Amino acid sequence: MADLNTTYMGIPLKGPLLVAASSISSMVDRVQMAERAGAGALVIRSLFEEQILFDAMQMEESLSVGGDSFAEALSYFPDLQHGDAQEHLMWVEKTRAAVQMPLIASLNAVGLGAWIKYAKQLQETGVDGLELNVYTVPADPKTPGSEIERTLYEIVEAVKAEVTIPVAVKLSPFYTSMANVAAELDRRGADALVLFNRFLQPDIDPQAEAPISEMSFSSPDELRLPLRWVALLHGRIQADLALNTGVHSGLDAAKALLAGATVVQTASALLRHGIPYLSTMLRELEGWMDEHGYARLEDFRGKLSQKEVADPATFERAQYVRLILSSDQ
Ligand SMILES: Cc1cc2nc3c(=O)[nH]c(=O)nc-3n(C[C@H](O)[C@H](O)[C@H](O)COP(=O)(O)O)c2cc1C
Repeated sequence: MADLNTTYMGIPLKGPLLVAASSISSMVDRVQMAERAGAGALVIRSLFEEQILFDAMQMEESLSVGGDSFAEALSYFPDLQHGDAQEHLMWVEKTRAAVQMPLIASLNAVGLGAWIKYAKQLQETGVDGLELNVYTVPADPKTPGSEIERTLYEIVEAVKAEVTIPVAVKLSPFYTSMANVAAELDRRGADALVLFNRFLQPDIDPQAEAPISEMSFSSPDELRLPLRWVALLHGRIQADLALNTGVHSGLDAAKALLAGATVVQTASALLRHGIPYLSTMLRELEGWMDEHGYARLEDFRGKLSQKEVADPATFERAQYVRLILSSDQ
């Protein structure tokens, strides 16, 4: 029987399948279900600074309906303008008390001060690790890529200096030099890189002539992008690699581990098939390991990374050119 025990950012895990930050963590019974299904750990949905600011604004508006009573009401809520993460923090504490498995909190802030403040507050809830969800769409034409990268490094360095729990950085795949960004984050002490976040892409309804913003689940095809980058980075940086996006089966997890992932994170598959499906994925991974004669994850992790594979060009452009030319009919 295959042994699925592993370690992620120094945290011992019962298995390499993690529940990605998502609505799964919005209900305690779902988190408990994930633990029973064999999740190695669960990432709690992000604390969004923007949401806190938005809630505070709405509260201000509803208080201001009372006209003169607004100033008086504000004195009861001295921190109102800056919002309050209390509700989220209490939720994380409640989740912490409900399960034994490692929990990772997730944070998406805007200002550097807020990144530090909320990172410290999340650490105090007793979580085992922190994931920095640096989700932004840099749409300002005046902002060069170098500035975006500098801000990212500042956030990671500042948070690392303030917390003692391990810190993962969840990245988008849209950096000009992904390998360089990964190496810089590694150098600045990131304990893991989560490759990749999946951006919500708005659609357009041509009949209504209106943009549509709706949550969509990933497909297994989307696994290829993180698979390539995990394969390229494995063995070249110290930080652990969590492959995220497009993991829909135990065989997908096997691919990720062969590429060099320390762990995989999954959300869409569990939201689509139900949380107990996680145990099906684990059984499939175990079955594959038995079939291929692997007793432990270390026996094959990174076996197909770029460093180890016979034809390293597979993961780079040379292969692309060859494929394009050979597909000419
Ligand atoms: C309903 C839903 C909620 C999500 N919430 C968060 C979140 O709060 N923070 C975060 O970093 N990612 C969030 N994600 C993104 C997932 O963590 C994950 O990166 C993405 O879904 C790709 O993985 P998948 O292909 O397994 O779904 C969310 C995804 C879904 C579907």
